[in-house]
Amino acid sequence: MDFEVVQAAPGNWCEAVCDALLVVVDEHTAPEALGQVLGGALKQALADGDFAFKAGRTLYLHHPGGVKAARVVFAAAASAAPKALRAAVLAGVGAVKGGGTRDLLVAAALGEPFGAAHAQAVVAAVHDAVYVYRHTKPSANEVPKLQRVRVACGADQEAAVRSALARGEAMAAGVALARELTNRPANHCTPSDLAGEARRLGREHGLHVKVLGRKEIEALGMGCFLAVAQATHQPPKFIVLEYRGAPKADRPVVLVGKGITFDTGGVSLKPAADMDEMKSDMGGAASVLGTLCAVASAKARLNVIGLIPSCENMPGGAAVKPGDVVTSLSGQTVEILNTDAEGRLILCDALTYAERFKPALVIDIATLTGACVIALGHLRSGMFCADDAVAAALLDAGEAALDPCWRLPLDDEYGEALKSNFADMANVGPRAAGAVTAAMFLKRYTAKFPWAHLDIAGVAFKGGTNKGATGRPVPLLTQFLLARAG
Ligand code: BES
Ligand code: MN
Ligand code: ZN
Repeated sequence: MDFEVVQAAPGNWCEAVCDALLVVVDEHTAPEALGQVLGGALKQALADGDFAFKAGRTLYLHHPGGVKAARVVFAAAASAAPKALRAAVLAGVGAVKGGGTRDLLVAAALGEPFGAAHAQAVVAAVHDAVYVYRHTKPSANEVPKLQRVRVACGADQEAAVRSALARGEAMAAGVALARELTNRPANHCTPSDLAGEARRLGREHGLHVKVLGRKEIEALGMGCFLAVAQATHQPPKFIVLEYRGAPKADRPVVLVGKGITFDTGGVSLKPAADMDEMKSDMGGAASVLGTLCAVASAKARLNVIGLIPSCENMPGGAAVKPGDVVTSLSGQTVEILNTDAEGRLILCDALTYAERFKPALVIDIATLTGACVIALGHLRSGMFCADDAVAAALLDAGEAALDPCWRLPLDDEYGEALKSNFADMANVGPRAAGAVTAAMFLKRYTAKFPWAHLDIAGVAFKGGTNKGATGRPVPLLTQFLLARAG
């Protein structure tokens, strides 16, 4: 997709040559400002009851007289906020994407000037609208023809909008990658497949990529990761990606992504209902690949390392059993009371591995707990971070990228739930505050660097009729890293 900025005042939108003109309006839009033709059509539609300033409403006009565009779509936004604009553009593009439109002009007549945040929201919405999953369903709806999107703004915003479009495109490429990989079923997205995707990404963007197999993981001593991987026939992979956008001496941010390509629960087997959704248990890993794709596309001036421990969590004759004690790469021993709490086991060894990069910051991203879904639902990721400044920056990035998170606590007292009589810690505590005790487990492997943890169990994948991956939290992470890079 190609995004460009154009300077155009509302009165001239009817003169724009394009396949489709998408006019986003809200209740503060004065129809008169849109000129005679568009303003007249809008007024008439409102009077006839065919359109209302209500979020989600669209009105499609085919070859309306006096307009150069072959199609006009009005889309109503709940307000002038970027989030409302994103929803309106998603609906508006939905009205034309199945047709002949290749060339779209997006023009917003809202109660505030169209700026950088709006531009970024438009890019996200357009990409979201045209994404089609085809990997194992090649017959799926024809891919939309849309190729070129121009975005109208005023002269004083042009430079800011242009760079926001570029930033938005980098982010959208990362979101699309994460979304696609997370949608793929576990038999089409094995740890080896993820490693292949990492290598492909490396070739495309000049990243250094290294993949460790079972022997090397054993030689390192990642006893917790190996315990999870010991019953599966799929070889486990530990994937390391390095993006160097800054001098070598600059300490990197290390992103650690949970890469469970399927989570059956292991011997602590999950119930059958909705178990298919556990193909998305590599959503953290996918977001690491997506974010590296985005920061590399944006040529961000910072160093970012991606670490992905990846395996399946299977039951079987060789499987780890409740009560088994294993030794992590850090040397700490862990009593595995519940084999379904496997994410923290693969992540703890990856966190210890992160030490060798002398990181400025480590962020792990994981579909870690059902408890986080209970706490926050599907809107906000759970965010854990002892450092107030980093926590604030993550919160801000989430708001700015329309990919929000919410901070949850890390008081030492929560760690008492992990006491074991047979090892340095158990891998689970009682049910209460399950998202927090999972974070407290990880915290024990982060003494050597500043650390944040994102529990994305509720946001990476949607159930129901629109079942599918979201590509989150690539926008949050990309926004955070680009802001950090300055
Ligand atoms: N992958 C799951 C968490 C999950 C649940 C992700 C729902 C997405 C949607 C994780 O490995 C898991 O099974 N966690 C257990 C932990 C428990 C045994 C302490 C859970 O949440 O039930
Ligand atoms: Mn599990
Ligand atoms: Zn899991």
